[in-house]
Amino acid sequence: LSSVEVNLSNIAVGQAIKVMWRGKPVFIRHRTEREIKEAEDVALNQLVDPETDDARVQKKEWLIVVGVCTHLGCIPMGTATGEPRGDFDGWYCPCHGSHYDSSGRIRKGPAPLNLHVPTYTFLTDTSVKIG
Ligand code: FES
Repeated sequence: LSSVEVNLSNIAVGQAIKVMWRGKPVFIRHRTEREIKEAEDVALNQLVDPETDDARVQKKEWLIVVGVCTHLGCIPMGTATGEPRGDFDGWYCPCHGSHYDSSGRIRKGPAPLNLHVPTYTFLTDTSVKIG
């Protein structure tokens, strides 16, 4: 499938899901106020791959990223409830210890780049088309 439509209405604040798109996992996280603020408050000079949170989201409460570690391609943990989210409230890649923040940006560990943001379009407030 070149695109996939996802219903967001059952994803509670603080939860994330994984969907498959073009054979890759895509993480969709319904961010909390705190996660949004943490992502917005980071100074760009603290980032390995400097990007503002604003440049990475269309709606502040929804973060959508490709779930493939930019180091060597493992799938980071932090989507399912109870999985470790690393030191920055995002995702943690257990393969070699990369920590991503609540905007999916690399903050610590060997990965060189932020988690990739796929092309997506909101069809309604609770429905998004990825791809
Ligand atoms: Fe993720 Fe190496 S593949 S840290």
